[in-house]
Amino acid sequence: MSSSAFGMLSAIGFFITLISLCIVPQYAQGITRHYEFNIKMQNVTRLCHTKSMVTVNGKCPGPRVVAREGDRLVIKVTNHVSTNITIHWHGIRQLRSGWADGPAYITQCPIQTGQSYVYNFTVVGQRGTLWWHAHISWLRSTLYGPLIILPKNNVPYPFEKPYKEVPVIFGEWFNNDPETIIRQALQTGGGPNVSDAYTINGLPGPLYNCSAKDTFKLKVKPGKTYLLRIINAALNDELFFSIANHTLTVVDVDAIYVKPFETDTILITPGQTTNVLLKTKPNFPGAAFFMSARPYVTGQGTFDNSSVAGILEYEFPSPHLKNLPLFKPNLPPLNDTSFAANYTKKLRSLASPLFPANVPKKVDKHFFFTVGLGTNPCDHKNQTCQGPNGTKFAASVNNISFTQPTTALLQAHYFGKSNGVYSPDFPINPFHWFNYTGNPPNNTMVNNGTTKVMVLPFNTSVELVMQDTSILGAESHPLHLHGFNFFVVGQGFGNYDPQKDPKNFNLVDPIERNTVGVPSGGWVAIRFLADNPGVWFMHCHLEVHTSWGLKMAWLVLDGKLPNQKLQPPPDDLPQC
Ligand code: C2O
Repeated sequence: MSSSAFGMLSAIGFFITLISLCIVPQYAQGITRHYEFNIKMQNVTRLCHTKSMVTVNGKCPGPRVVAREGDRLVIKVTNHVSTNITIHWHGIRQLRSGWADGPAYITQCPIQTGQSYVYNFTVVGQRGTLWWHAHISWLRSTLYGPLIILPKNNVPYPFEKPYKEVPVIFGEWFNNDPETIIRQALQTGGGPNVSDAYTINGLPGPLYNCSAKDTFKLKVKPGKTYLLRIINAALNDELFFSIANHTLTVVDVDAIYVKPFETDTILITPGQTTNVLLKTKPNFPGAAFFMSARPYVTGQGTFDNSSVAGILEYEFPSPHLKNLPLFKPNLPPLNDTSFAANYTKKLRSLASPLFPANVPKKVDKHFFFTVGLGTNPCDHKNQTCQGPNGTKFAASVNNISFTQPTTALLQAHYFGKSNGVYSPDFPINPFHWFNYTGNPPNNTMVNNGTTKVMVLPFNTSVELVMQDTSILGAESHPLHLHGFNFFVVGQGFGNYDPQKDPKNFNLVDPIERNTVGVPSGGWVAIRFLADNPGVWFMHCHLEVHTSWGLKMAWLVLDGKLPNQKLQPPPDDLPQC
């Protein structure tokens, strides 16, 4: 056969494949998408401070990773800086591909200077907005970016098709190096210095000194629908967000469609994502509106109480219409816990035939974890520490402050070398009952020591109640679970009542997500099916609390069938 005839035939074959892919999208194989992440230093100036910071490809936020549901992502991360690095794909289920999850010393040893690691995983059964970030120390302060999962080809959104889609990602800017800030805080035992600004897409905006030129502007046309993909990548702050004179329609959180509802303000914790529809007004030439975010704070410590603003600007047909007044939004008070409770109650899974809410109806194992702050004794000679009463700040789950191992838990498990690395005895509830949300107990010390994990047989159906403690004051904790989505079946204030509270659980259309705020002075109940073998980190997504030990790990064992087992590790998996 001549080469041109062959070319013709393969072209026909190609088109047949293309056509069949279009006709039956649900059977289409996803494609493989390649990205390169080069971790390198970059000079960045904000608020008139220039600093050299760690970036992906010289940018902060870093590159937008885009895939369709069903695609494979292959991301080569090369470390050109002096610190160790890992990258986590926040919210990706990582079905049987736990080696690509990313938390340092949990699923992998860090990527050392001069080395690279290829994160290779398939996006299964998820569509919406997620994000990626460094998962070691406080490096995620500058290493983060959007991870956008589009629906499969020809599968529409369950809401109006937007005219345009825009990522809106919140971050925190520190004039000083965040690595130095947390190192010093852990040394002194005190609270770390707070950030100097919040940012929208890396820009602090006009409400800060020396920052007006660094303002995120969203230019819009009248009478259109925009999809904002909102991500909270801030280190330590939950945020309220609002756009002056505009209503937002929430359609998706953590890459799960929700029953749409309208609101003037959203609340978003670090780790969470929220897709909203923004309908622009029919005719508003030249008008400009602030979009603004500031924190929701419940704890006792200091925090960055500043506001970030960007500008929503309507295109103006005639130049003399410029300079109309700038409208400003009203945001709730900084400690508005009732707004938080009401807002989270509005979130319901879409629970449609196409997007069902597969809530586990029976429960194999019940767990009750307290989460909150506590103290460690001062370990300085002849000197007090800067935490409460001269101690050091600490944080815990069931009063156990997690001990970070020096080798990765997943490797230790997979190669049968867990001896001396972890013990499988994480407690199912606290050792002592006390009035968790009442007056603090006399002893505020946490336990340290061996790394403990909670072992679950494959396909265990889990109910977990997480109870805030007021040991150092009640505080909201955004808990994030790796490797799974969970259903938020109940929440309340005060101490959880195992007799009364389950009667009010929502098992019909509870919100499904990967990060949930444990209410300040309250509790939240979640359910998930442990159908993903591996070691899965769970922690408060306030980075300072993670640093203090508010974290633990689940170990989900392999199932019997071949497709219920963790795949073998890739050859380039970093060594410690
Ligand atoms: Cu977004 Cu364990 O993190």
